[in-house]
Amino acid sequence: MTILAYYDLTAAEQAHWREAISASDWRGGQNLYRLLAEDELRTPEWIGEGAQLFLLTEGERQCGFCTLAGNDDVPDTPLKPWVGFVYTFPEWRGGHNFGTLLAHVVERARTEGHTAVYVSTDHIGLYEHYGFVFREQAKDLWGGDTRVYELDFGWMLADETERQQGLPARAKAERILEASNLMNPGPWREHSYCVALAAERIARACGDIDPECAYLSGLLHDIGRRFGHGHLRHVYDGWKFMERLGYPAAGRICLTHSFKRQFLEDYVGNHDLTPAEEQETVEAMTACRYGDMDRLIQLCDSICGATVVDIEERMLDVKRRYGGFYPQDKWDANIALLHDFERRTGGDIYRIARGEKGAS
Ligand SMILES: [Fe+2]
Repeated sequence: MTILAYYDLTAAEQAHWREAISASDWRGGQNLYRLLAEDELRTPEWIGEGAQLFLLTEGERQCGFCTLAGNDDVPDTPLKPWVGFVYTFPEWRGGHNFGTLLAHVVERARTEGHTAVYVSTDHIGLYEHYGFVFREQAKDLWGGDTRVYELDFGWMLADETERQQGLPARAKAERILEASNLMNPGPWREHSYCVALAAERIARACGDIDPECAYLSGLLHDIGRRFGHGHLRHVYDGWKFMERLGYPAAGRICLTHSFKRQFLEDYVGNHDLTPAEEQETVEAMTACRYGDMDRLIQLCDSICGATVVDIEERMLDVKRRYGGFYPQDKWDANIALLHDFERRTGGDIYRIARGEKGAS
């Protein structure tokens, strides 16, 4: 899935995607098409100057769209910005595609300095799934009733203490994970808790790694999945997301957790970044001097699915999912990492990771 910003595209690309919008089976989609064709969408009568239209695409196909703008259909309100013209094409419904688009739009709003976005809708029980909260009943431009929902995300930003530590406090980290799972629900939530707990327990057994930092690093290592089902992209998205919120230590773990041997080819999965993003990832990752926390989360990622599993079973599972490919050197490096932590804890890593009594 790729998200395109309509107004950043060439005229020919805009025409292509505009035609796709005309095929939507929704009156609002037809209206949007007309406004785009007549170049009226960004006028003060509609959603205003600087408004953006985002398109969720896969190859040449359009999956959905929405706008992010200063206005919507609620006049005379101090609230902004608004997410509007929200639409998913029928064949793309039910797969959390809107969550992918919304996560991106929220991130755009946040980087523009906003702490919340709003939606005007007559739906009940739809936006709630993504964390929106009903705020008020309002009148729309035509005098009809509409419901205004708010999605607040200002709380995600690091406070002074968190900024210094580079990690959020525990309750906030868990809230970030839960809010992110609403955008892209999946087994990665349970996996993240599993990695967090395993890391905390192994750190405690080691005695010289901070268990709280280990928990937080484990909990957020896959947070890039908030933005959809990316492969290498989840590494990049998580790293950038955490850095922008003011949590560079968490961002670093997002970056390093997939590269045991600090080169790009170590990543088993699709390389779905742009060449520039890939280059940026390689440069940042190779510049890291790996420490205990990087290695601990790499280990825990290798022994955790939704629960603690055998490291070889997990590698075989990854190998199966990617057509039988798994670099032998990486396999050996994983086993060596396990043995290294076994030496450091003096116990059985699996038992420690599961929190079994007397394991270390
Ligand atoms: Fe993971």
